[in-house]
Amino acid sequence: VPALEQEAENATISQGVVESNHAGFSGTGFVNYDNVIGSSVEYTINADSGGEHELTFRYANGTTVDRPVSVTVDGANAQTVSFPGTGAWTTWQTRTLKVTLHAGSNKIKATATTANGGPNADKLTA
Ligand code: GCU
Ligand code: CA
Repeated sequence: VPALEQEAENATISQGVVESNHAGFSGTGFVNYDNVIGSSVEYTINADSGGEHELTFRYANGTTVDRPVSVTVDGANAQTVSFPGTGAWTTWQTRTLKVTLHAGSNKIKATATTANGGPNADKLTA
C-alpha cells in the first residue's frame, strides 16, 4: 500500500454517501457523489516533502457523460479534472494530475462542477 493515500469513504464527504453496491472498489466502499453542483470529497494527504506531487484519483463513471471535478489544495490552486465514462459502474480507472503540496498535512478537495455530480470515487493516492 502506498504511504500516501486515502480511501474516499474515510475522507470528509459533503453531499454524498458511502456505498458498496458496485464491485471493484478498494477498502470498504466508494463515495457516490450527490448528482448536484458542489458535492465534494475532501481527502487528507500527508506529504513527506514539499513540492510537485502526482495525485491519482481512482473512479468509475458508468455514464457516457464526463463528470468534471474542481480539485483544490488547501482551498487554492483550483484545477478542473475530467472524469470521462469508464463503460460501467464496476469498471474503475484512474486520472492523474500534478499539484504542489507542502510537507505535512494537505487537504485535497474534489468538488463536482456540473449537475451530474462527481464520478463514483474510490480513493486518492499521492
Ligand atoms: C447510479 C449508480 C450510482 C451513481 C449514479 C450517478 O445510480 O448506481 O452509483 O452514483 O448512478 O449517476 O451518479
Ligand atoms: Ca452519484
